[in-house]
Amino acid sequence: MTESAERGHWGSRIGFLLACAGSAIGLGNIWKFPYIAGENGGGIFVLIYLVCIFAVGIPIMVCEFAIGRSTQSSPVQAFDKLSGGSTGWKAVGVLGVLAAFVLLSFYSVVAGWAMHYVYLSFTRFGGATGAGAIGELFGAVFSNPGINLFWHLAFMGMTTAIVWGGVSGGIEKASRIMMPALFLMLFILLAKALTMPGFGKAFVFVFSPDASKLTPAGVLEALGHSFFTLSLGMGAMMTYGSYMADDFDIVRSSVLISVLDTMVALLACLIMYPIIFSYGMNPQAGPGLVFKSMPIVFSQMPFGMAFSVVFFILLTFAALSSAISLLEVVTSYTIDNWGWGRHSATIIPAAVIFLFGVPSALSGSWLPATLPGGKNFFDSMDYLVSNWMMPLGGLFTALFVGFRMDVEVVKKEFASAKGLQPFFTGWFYTVKFVCPIAVTAVFLHMVGLF
Ligand code: TRP
Repeated sequence: MTESAERGHWGSRIGFLLACAGSAIGLGNIWKFPYIAGENGGGIFVLIYLVCIFAVGIPIMVCEFAIGRSTQSSPVQAFDKLSGGSTGWKAVGVLGVLAAFVLLSFYSVVAGWAMHYVYLSFTRFGGATGAGAIGELFGAVFSNPGINLFWHLAFMGMTTAIVWGGVSGGIEKASRIMMPALFLMLFILLAKALTMPGFGKAFVFVFSPDASKLTPAGVLEALGHSFFTLSLGMGAMMTYGSYMADDFDIVRSSVLISVLDTMVALLACLIMYPIIFSYGMNPQAGPGLVFKSMPIVFSQMPFGMAFSVVFFILLTFAALSSAISLLEVVTSYTIDNWGWGRHSATIIPAAVIFLFGVPSALSGSWLPATLPGGKNFFDSMDYLVSNWMMPLGGLFTALFVGFRMDVEVVKKEFASAKGLQPFFTGWFYTVKFVCPIAVTAVFLHMVGLF
């Protein structure tokens, strides 16, 4: 069999889109976006984030698909082939693999909280109802080493089991059911949120930008999050692109995936903020936000506990469909570059990732605030991946497509978007200049140069 015949291929365009949406839509949308928007002034953050998605995220997603599809290879080999064997460009691929490794180590801890909340829903949150008691409940979960370790292990186990058995049958099928179910659930909860007294205030908070709340750190965070939420800058979309047929339209696909992803993030805000404002909570509650807000409503609405079980199961599945693609980046690297078999390439990296995640799982209990800058291990890893590794990966991806890749190959990839040829030049200039300058400016600011 030839190399490309052995490699998987998406059965259909919809299968590909759902897998990419499954990767993109995850904890980043429902857990992370609402709390970082809350911490960074609401509307102004949302606005900058939207600009980042459209001006930087979508153009880079097109780049990743183009690199993956034109080489039909996993990222390190893709950079190798297209650069004619340059070590520096291969290192960009390796940076992506490392980012996936670090991200999965703490992503699994948060997914573990979601799993624990499925269990807690069955106990009716141990009888807690008001904002105070439910907030304390999260504190108790976060600071319990046993709970964190147990669910971290369970979630890594589930992720490993699926990647072990191959992704296509299981996860593609699961995505087809889970993704629409997630949307349906979000709309039902939105209907509930619309009836709450805090909805108006929430709407204003999310959609009316207040420029005085703009901070450089917020801009950095918005840019970092636009890479995070679209699964960019670490070779994940490249890998998925490498399983794609020649005639799939990579431009419309990128737009569609990004729009769906953004919709889920905004829906999550419109569901959570009305609860927060109706119950006099603080939108700056940090990583516990979704766990402190949603249970208040569930504990009071009809069939609330059933909704709660379903909501946290869906959150777990959204996380799982992302986690699988994260582990797949590391697994396919060890298969392709180290020559390991699929099973050892799954279980060994997964075990190492689990161990590396242990300090994150203990960041609420035994290892609080121990690293320079006062951040605990968990926050430091999140900061490292979201604000450094992913933007750097994205920056180099844009530079690579803009300046290093053969322009004819790039054009041929873009040509899959029938009727969008007039946009080629605009896109290409965005990739060459807008994306690199935006990312560099943010970096220079961070290191204090301007
Ligand atoms: N996009 C995912 C989320 O929003 C997180 C993520 C970032 C990711 N990079 C990834 C998932 C790479 C899979 C692969 O939750």
